[in-house]
Parts: sequence; structure tokens; C-alpha cells
Amino acid sequence: MSIEVIRDLRGLHSSIARHRHGPLNTAASLAIVPTMGAIHEAHEALVVEAKRNANIVLATIFVNPMQFGENEDLDKYPKSELEDIKRLESKGCDIVYIPENETIYPEDFDLTINVPKLSSVLCGKERKNHFQGVATVVAKLLLQSGADYAIFGEKDYQQLLIIKSLVRDLDIPCQIVPINTVRDSNGLALSSRNQYLNTKQINIANNINMIMNEAAKNFYNLDINETISFVLKKLEKVGIKKIDYVEIRNNNNLKNVTNNDKSNARLFIAVYIDEIRLIDNIKL
Ligand code: PAJ
Repeated sequence: MSIEVIRDLRGLHSSIARHRHGPLNTAASLAIVPTMGAIHEAHEALVVEAKRNANIVLATIFVNPMQFGENEDLDKYPKSELEDIKRLESKGCDIVYIPENETIYPEDFDLTINVPKLSSVLCGKERKNHFQGVATVVAKLLLQSGADYAIFGEKDYQQLLIIKSLVRDLDIPCQIVPINTVRDSNGLALSSRNQYLNTKQINIANNINMIMNEAAKNFYNLDINETISFVLKKLEKVGIKKIDYVEIRNNNNLKNVTNNDKSNARLFIAVYIDEIRLIDNIKL
């Protein structure tokens, strides 16, 4: 069966109802894969994971204005709708929901969901209100779809924790399923932003994961500050001039990790290669 493209809420509800009650009239399970489009292999891996968990896979494409800051270029976000739909379909996605702005944020929309503790560190420091936008749109998509499972990538680890937290606190009956960060053969985490990198910039970016792996290898031989300085120095040495953060935090709650208890530690970094911001993280 070919993929169904849906653009409004009523259409979404009827499509899901039709899929859930198939020929045998047995209620089928539904997994959602929220995206902002510009589909690449990591999004495809999310669809594959969604299929492993549920009978029906719904992907969403919505470039969410609420999560973009004033200086971040919402209008320049890459758009490739036809290609996106084809890629999603080739991985077995059943429905793609591409809502209009008004379907997510109707005229009198007056709600923001804030997960303040998890949102105040790492990317939340530089990108003010970004995670409020993410939490609000994800809550809407989960509730609009009534999905049983929602699949997210560990590439955006802070986002994943925030979504887990909001689902728990709002008792949304949806299980959050993470997938590992998908990387290219050089270890660079796939991202829609990678397409902005020229060859020279890619060569610089390719060092990021290598440096992180080296830090992980030496993590138990060095203290936390030494590991952080090691990463900072190496990043600078390969030509990264602007570093937003290099931090080691707890995997579950993003609290600081101390030298006395190094369990559940994760290394988080955000750097700029010229004007392009890249993030990555790995378990230590
Ligand atoms: P987007 O950047 O399109 O990412 C959609 C999903 O793909 C997220 O779960 C993200 O973590 C995952 N993803 C992206 N690159 C990945 C990689 N290299 N490995 C594993 N997973 C990867 O994240 C968003 O959109 C938005 O914030 C969204 C959740 C859709 C809310 O608007």
C-alpha cells in the first residue's frame, strides 16, 4: 500500500482510524516519528525502529516556528517535501502528516510547555525558549495522533530527555523509544545541517567524533576537568574556533557528574564550524 499524505487534523484522525481497524478489525498499534523534514538516513532509521515497535508508522514533517530563535533562520530550513515522502515510503512508513502552521497553532493558541530544569542547561543556555517550542509541538503531535510509541534519536539527547519527562509528567500514554545516533563512515553524526558544510568544513567536522571517542577511552584515567580540557584543546587544534560548550553530565537528569561518582556520565558538545552549529554526545 502506498503512503498516505495528510495535511489536516480531521484527515489524520480518519486515516489513523482506518489503519488501526484493518480488515480483521483488530486494533493495531501506532508509532510516530516526528521530524522537520529534510529526511536523511537517521530519520529512515527512526522509521525502521518504529516499524519494529508498532503495526502502523506515522511520520510527521513540520518545521516548528516555536522552536526557532530570532536569529535562527526558520525560512532557510531545507525543504524537500516530495523527496522526503519518497524516502519515508521506501522505509515502509504508512502515513505522513504535514500540517499547516494553523493546524498546530490555531489563531488563539496560548500554551507553552516548559520543562525548566532539563531545558536550562547545554543547548538551552544559548537557544532560549528552544526546548519550550520542542516540548509544546511534541506534546501536540503525540496528542493529535494518539500514538502508542514515539521514536527519537539520541543525537538530540537533551531533547529526548525533555520529551521523556513531559510524557511522564502529563501522563501521555505513549512510550518513548530512543535510537542510537546514526553516523556516517567518518563518525560524523548525520544532521540536516551537514549539507551546509563545504569540503574543508566537513574535514574539520570529521574530527569531532574521533576526539569524543578518545575522551571516552581515557575517561576513567583522568578527572572530569582534565577530560574537558583535553576535548577543548583537541577541538581547537583541528580548527574549531567557536565552542559553545563541552560538558560532562549525568545521562538521566543532566546534573553535573563528579569525580567521586562517574557512573552514567555522558559527554555533550556544541561547536560552530564557521556559522554552522553542530552538536554531538556520547556515553562515557
Ligand atoms: P529533526 O531535527 O528533523 O529530527 C527528527 C528526529 O531525528 C529527532 O528524533 C532527532 O533526534 C533524530 N535524528 C536526527 N539526526 C539523527 C542522527 N544522526 N541519529 C539519530 N537520530 C537523529 O528533532 C527535531 O527534528 C525536532 O526538534 C522535532 C522533535 C521534530 C520537534 O519539532
